[in-house]
Amino acid sequence: AKLIVTNRDGETSTIEADTGISLMENLRDNDFELAAICGGMCSCATCHVFIDEDWMAKVGPRSEDENDLLGELDSFNDASSRLSCQIEVTKELDGLMVTIAPDE
Ligand code: FES
Repeated sequence: AKLIVTNRDGETSTIEADTGISLMENLRDNDFELAAICGGMCSCATCHVFIDEDWMAKVGPRSEDENDLLGELDSFNDASSRLSCQIEVTKELDGLMVTIAPDE
């Protein structure tokens, strides 16, 4: 699946993402500046991204744990914030637009 990713410097590029693994793993594999300290366990919130609002319904809802973690961040945006480790890349997400959230 092709993903359109904007990094923390505001530069946008297109990556070819692998399906069946998380968005976080794909971003890391493509050398984006994402700490993802907990390795995808939904406990660190350093994999925070903003999903383009038109895509939010397609990626599915946040879990309760995810909501709690994200809600503590200054940069939390209810309309677009997700933990990228909690989104599995599928064929359906081809064309997804995602922006890496600021470091906190
Ligand atoms: Fe830690 Fe996603 S990698 S919450």
